[in-house]
Amino acid sequence: MKKKIVLMTMAAILAFSTAACGSSGESSSSDTTTKAEDNSGSDNSGSGSVANKDKPLVWFNRQPSNSSTGELDMTALSFNKDTYYVGFDANQGAELQGTMVKEYIEANIDTIDRNGDGVIGYVLAIGDIGHNDSIARTRGVRKALGTGVDKDGEINSEPVGTNTDGSAKAVQDGSIEVGGKTYKIRELASQEMKNSAGATWDAATAGNAIGTWSSSFGDSIDVVVSNNDGMGMSMFNAWSRDKKVPTFGYDANNDAVAAIAEGYGGTISQHADVQAYLTLRVLRNALDGVDIDTGIGTADEAGNVLSDDVYVYREEERSYYALNVAVTAENYKDFTDSTKVYEPVSNQLDESKHASKKVWLNIYNASDNFLSSTYQPLLEKYDDLMNLQVDYIGGDGQTESNITNRLGNPSQYDAFAINMVKTDNAASYTALLNQ
Ligand code: BGC
Repeated sequence: MKKKIVLMTMAAILAFSTAACGSSGESSSSDTTTKAEDNSGSDNSGSGSVANKDKPLVWFNRQPSNSSTGELDMTALSFNKDTYYVGFDANQGAELQGTMVKEYIEANIDTIDRNGDGVIGYVLAIGDIGHNDSIARTRGVRKALGTGVDKDGEINSEPVGTNTDGSAKAVQDGSIEVGGKTYKIRELASQEMKNSAGATWDAATAGNAIGTWSSSFGDSIDVVVSNNDGMGMSMFNAWSRDKKVPTFGYDANNDAVAAIAEGYGGTISQHADVQAYLTLRVLRNALDGVDIDTGIGTADEAGNVLSDDVYVYREEERSYYALNVAVTAENYKDFTDSTKVYEPVSNQLDESKHASKKVWLNIYNASDNFLSSTYQPLLEKYDDLMNLQVDYIGGDGQTESNITNRLGNPSQYDAFAINMVKTDNAASYTALLNQ
């Protein structure tokens, strides 16, 4: 109900303020107003008179925020009236991941403690210590397993390095009681998987780490946990598949879901199918000058609509968050194709009413498993459905300039979708749009 009121208010605001976004080409503001009213953008020439700073902008997957404190960068999130963020609910997902691991341990308690020492040992691959999604996942696992310790009112999310003796300060030993017996749970090791060139969430680094860990304390590792499937699968392929050690990731990439049949413990779907849709849909709506909720909470004329159980919108954060679902041995067969468009929003928009527009979109790291194997293929399907011509730019995962250098002429585009290397760096992009 509350959401409806917010959205109706936004609709009213938008009705008064469509001038900047409805048009490309040489339009005057009265022209744009007309276009917004009859809702029929007409050319695809890449934006003529609309200033770059007024064009629709969506941040996705990396939310503009302070990488030390996690505080949202509201300046970037409200860069102009058509600016949004699209991601997923990090806390809800993190809790699901933690619970999934804990329930797995409980259900398999008879076999899980491989060396029978009464300690369930796990290792944790951390993606990026300055990325709020990565931080949330580390906290979620520590919370569920009782290994978290408080730091400034939140669970400490720092990596511990090696902690085979349980003496690390950033974590504590947890305990779990099953069938009247109490087991200790220990985070044996954790590390940020950053390669020497600076790329985070680095799968190859995780594969090397499990090699090092397993050669020095392999038989005490009972569970492997990762902030994502890219790193999780790298560890699974390098070591845990053979050793039959359950390995848990996040993203529900195709290879990880398939690996559940071979002993991968489970993953979390962050509903990339919904996120990819929202990423382009908020741009489409802003370009059409229609209520931002169109085709989202309110069905569009083609019948596209999302239900409340797959996303939330927090207006004060200008952010859409997809909801997560645990994928385990029980339900993985429903998730075997992560690049399939979400059926309720799979209807083609009529090009005579939603004229073709040009979008500049970047992926922070062309070799990020989730973004390149799941998210981008989905975007490529939705861009057709929404009549958007998207230029996809793949970064090196290390420097913002590798990407911003390729936004030499923003005036060629009608809208922008940005996936930063570092969540603090929104200004590197908005500075270009402000010029
Ligand atoms: C995904 C990771 C990915 C990261 C990149 C996260 O949401 O789970 O797999 O590497 O985004 O920003």
